[in-house]
Amino acid sequence: MSDVLPDESGRWRWVEERARALFHAFGYDEIRTPILERTELFVRSLGESTDVVEKEMYTFATGSGESLTLRPEGTASVVRSFVQHALAQRGPANRLYYLGPMFRHERPQKGRSRQFHQIGAEVLGAGSPEADVEIIAMLWAFLGEIGVDGIQLELTSLGDAACRPAYLERLRNFAESRVGELCENCTRRRLTNPLRILDCKVEGCRKALADAPLMTEHLCEPCRTHHGGVERLLAALGIPFVANPRIVRGLDYYVRTAFEVTTDRLGAQNAVAGGGRYDGLIASFGGPDAPGVGFAMGLERVLELAAPTPAAAPPVFLASHGDESRRAAFGLAHRLRLGGVRVETSLEPTSMKSQMRRAQKLGCATVLMIGESELAAGTVRIKDMTSGAEEDAARDVDALLARLARAPSGA
Ligand code: HAM
Repeated sequence: MSDVLPDESGRWRWVEERARALFHAFGYDEIRTPILERTELFVRSLGESTDVVEKEMYTFATGSGESLTLRPEGTASVVRSFVQHALAQRGPANRLYYLGPMFRHERPQKGRSRQFHQIGAEVLGAGSPEADVEIIAMLWAFLGEIGVDGIQLELTSLGDAACRPAYLERLRNFAESRVGELCENCTRRRLTNPLRILDCKVEGCRKALADAPLMTEHLCEPCRTHHGGVERLLAALGIPFVANPRIVRGLDYYVRTAFEVTTDRLGAQNAVAGGGRYDGLIASFGGPDAPGVGFAMGLERVLELAAPTPAAAPPVFLASHGDESRRAAFGLAHRLRLGGVRVETSLEPTSMKSQMRRAQKLGCATVLMIGESELAAGTVRIKDMTSGAEEDAARDVDALLARLARAPSGA
């Protein structure tokens, strides 16, 4: 778990603000759910035999014997809130987004931490391929906007309750015929969670399962039609994707569309974002029979890959000399700040020289100075730090705000 330090938080804020602005344009509203939920919520929605539930959740009992868990992801909480507050009444499709910390007790390694942050979005109440593609297109546009390149979109269909059981039976039978060649993990998982064997990294398993049957070859007609629709709409929007029938999402709630955005620039942890459809999840929590689709991206991973943070406007420094000037400067700084200008001052009396040094160090483009003569004249001296030019101006807050807004500094 890491701190986000003051010199790093500007980058976080930039990415978060870009996400909010773009998601807003797509018609999404923010939802904020608690970081803690009842353990049962995650067990039931993510699936008992998933890695997350089996070994990665931070779970504890409260004094009254209730079992609570720090959220390992956001979708379950959004679904819980949707049902609890009858959000279906807001309209046919609820477009929601969230951002915040998630917790998984994984083995820490590069690109993987125990508290990490996700930005995610969900559409609840729309089952059409348009909903899948809207969500993917928004993710893709966002990653493009903040300059993440070297990524690819991998897409598949995981089938649904009509076609998946028969496929899993096939896969199990296939795994049975190769059981001697499988690693210990896959030998166990072929029974508990057979899909997981498809993305085992062990060389022996990869060889043994090279000809394994794939879900996309055994989709029922409605799933096949849906998947075709998703592929067509993605192509129509010019969003490049590769079919990867071996995508195995680590969570059990998915049906039909599943996707991942991957990169080879982050070492072993290659997933930048992942998501898919989860029709049936809302109904299983006592809600309406509403379908759902969404994604979440790992914010730390996105921050690694994004373009350099655009430079922020440099602050203005307000320097003063003498007790009375300090008081005048203190009041002026306050009013300029209320006008939206970032103003740096020294909180202790120090020499003009050391204040100028500080202004230089902070990269201020403009320094306002109030000394004895400016105090008496009701003016302020404005120094352009680039050219070194100085001039006097009236100590009028509105005029100063207008001037600072024009200068390459301030707000
Ligand atoms: P997920 O694939 O488990 O999906 O996580 C989404 C993203 O979170 C990953 O692609 C990765 O970038 C990031 N991530 C996951 N674990 C860690 C970690 N330990 N350290 C750093 N980053 C991590 C979900 O969570 C689903 N709720 C996505 C979704 C939304 N599906 C439908 N709607």
